[in-house]
Amino acid sequence: MYPVVCIDDLERSALARLDQNALGYYSSGADGEQTLRDNIAAFQRYRLRPRCMVDISTIDLTQTVLGHQVNMPIGVAPTAMQRMAHPEGECATARAAEQMGTIFTLSTISTSSIEQVAAAAPRATKWFQLYVLKDRAMTVRMVQRAERAGFSAIVLTVDAQLFGRRLADARNGFQMPPHLSMANFTEELKNTVKGSGEQASGINNFVQTLFDPSLTWDDLSWLCGVTRLPVLVKGVMTPEDAATAVDRGASGVIVSNHGGRQLDGCLATVDALGPVVAAVGHRCPVFMDGGVRRGTDALKALALGACMVFVGRPLLWGLAHDGERGARLALQLLHSELRLAMGLCGVTKVADVTEKVIEKSERSHL
Ligand code: FNR
Ligand code: LAC
Repeated sequence: MYPVVCIDDLERSALARLDQNALGYYSSGADGEQTLRDNIAAFQRYRLRPRCMVDISTIDLTQTVLGHQVNMPIGVAPTAMQRMAHPEGECATARAAEQMGTIFTLSTISTSSIEQVAAAAPRATKWFQLYVLKDRAMTVRMVQRAERAGFSAIVLTVDAQLFGRRLADARNGFQMPPHLSMANFTEELKNTVKGSGEQASGINNFVQTLFDPSLTWDDLSWLCGVTRLPVLVKGVMTPEDAATAVDRGASGVIVSNHGGRQLDGCLATVDALGPVVAAVGHRCPVFMDGGVRRGTDALKALALGACMVFVGRPLLWGLAHDGERGARLALQLLHSELRLAMGLCGVTKVADVTEKVIEKSERSHL
């Protein structure tokens, strides 16, 4: 086993373990991967402003999010098909989140079902990420299953009505391995992702068949009307869209560019965050994901006004490295790095992480 002391070490371990099909799918961004790289690089354009001589013998990472207390302001973003990384897939990741006292978000296109995840991690705070399907009755049934299973929010993804073109998947002719299935779907639909042709990604075929590309803000209002759960809108990158999302009933927004997998050339999420916070931060919590690999990244996003940040690939790397233990390790590393970064900045509570601890740097890279 590789010695693992940071998320990059987990990534190296995962790269050595995953097969080409899964690795291509998990690691890719769209097209030339500019945005994938920039999500990470953009954090280096911000600098922290440490304050000294503060009593930092107790540092508290707890945060209240939509009425739930979490032990750390770093949660698990939805990523599809986690059983390609480890046989226990989403169940293992959800248990890791449960043990660390943070939020787990389950993808619509998971390889463990809503009910399996609920049984595996009954005490975790769980959110269900929704892709609206062309079949609205099927969509509502999925939302109702999440409600019944104890999920506490619906995360509506709004940046993936068409799927970005990930070149590795196109080259690999990405297929979900035959022993896995889209666990939230009915028997006849579960295996649609396998039916791809040569030189095409199976995931794009699946999405084209089932997902609704005609969504508009009216559909957000519709969704808020069919569920008693709060609806968070994921994939917002502009203040204009954030304001409309809240006007239409969203209880929160997640600034995200889908980990650079959709529109290549889109701005980095940490750069999009400040303007969104300025537009709607007084009306609802603003979350972000994309490129968070260190505690200092999380601290910068919190300083720019995020209520909490989410990580996608780091958990996949942890899962591939060592299943549930590896997923927990990813969260533990981020927890202890954030704790240290807060202490070294002279802040002892998440609420005290404000714009006072950050400034934008003129120099772009180290
Ligand atoms: C994703 N993401 C995603 N988002 C979503 O709403 N539903 C999904 O099913 C998936 N699936 C998915 C698979 C994989 C392999 C990746 C890498 C990402 C996007 C995800 O929720 C999140 O926005 C990004 O992963 C955040 O970026 P980082 O942390 O991976 O840099
Ligand atoms: C992806 C999905 C499933 O990015 O959202 O592949």
